[in-house]
Amino acid sequence: MRMENNVQDKIAAAASTDQAATVADKINLEGASKTFHMRGQVIRALQAIDLSVRREEFVALVGPSGCGKSTILNLVAGLLPPSAGTVLYDGRPVRDLNRRVGYMTQKDTLLPWRRAADNIRVALELRCRPTSHSEADEKVARMMELVGLKGFENHYPSELSGGMRKRTLLARTLIYEPETLLMDEPFGALDAQLKLIMLDQLQALTQQRRITVLFVTHDLGEAITLADRVVVFSARPGRIRAIRNIDLPRPRDVFRIRFTDVFARYHEELWDVLKDEVTKGTDI
Ligand SMILES: Nc1ncnc2c1ncn2[C@@H]1O[C@H](COP(=O)(O)OP(=O)(O)OP(=O)(O)O)[C@@H](O)[C@H]1O
Ligand SMILES: [Mg+2]
Repeated sequence: MRMENNVQDKIAAAASTDQAATVADKINLEGASKTFHMRGQVIRALQAIDLSVRREEFVALVGPSGCGKSTILNLVAGLLPPSAGTVLYDGRPVRDLNRRVGYMTQKDTLLPWRRAADNIRVALELRCRPTSHSEADEKVARMMELVGLKGFENHYPSELSGGMRKRTLLARTLIYEPETLLMDEPFGALDAQLKLIMLDQLQALTQQRRITVLFVTHDLGEAITLADRVVVFSARPGRIRAIRNIDLPRPRDVFRIRFTDVFARYHEELWDVLKDEVTKGTDI
């Protein structure tokens, strides 16, 4: 009897540990704020933010220019410390460069003197864990194929289209095999058709590889198309104005979803919040 109880306790404990592991948050911002001091000026970029991102969740951040979206990604990547509050990753404070995340920054950071394949390879060269030449060759080739760049290995960035450059950057970020992707307006400059193709590829990749994503965009439609939750920020100093669950089944048809009624309803509801903020002044 006693032994049975023991077994049951163990099963219960294992179940609760399992549950804890599946529901655990990947990222937590707890009262995290950021103020910059530069040349005698004080810029409050972010008010105290409370935001959690669950494991394998896709969260989109939208808000007016300068409201602190990139700053949030920089906090999670460990590139900046918060001025107050805490940023946790897997339950632990981010104190240094967060090597568990892949970060596709807002700027195009391709190295102009390196061919596409070598731009992707640079991620492996910078990695702490050594990668043999043949392993690196194979990984780069696989990644180029995955993002549809096969045949463009020897092109320099200046010889690639805007979309190809973005795909090279995406491949460079993915080759780390990050469990979390931070993406800062990754497809902002692309034409509408190419953007949809990229969104489709991103959805497939992140689902296949069960990646957690924190995705910054100016495009509300893009946010609704991809995200499990959309977070709308106020004008600077940014604070969270609204968080909306997007209950659309997956995989989503990124090419057609915007023509559905349910999409239109999400769009209208979120745009009502966002438009108030984008029309506000941006005085310091
Ligand atoms: N390293 C920095 N030093 C000083 N000020 C900064 C720094 N980084 C950001 N800021 C300021 O913080 C505010 C928020 O910047 P951030 O780049 O996070 O905005 P954003 O929401 O990403 O804007 P956008 O949509 O235009 O990219 C801005 O006023 C910006 O000037
Ligand atoms: Mg930004």
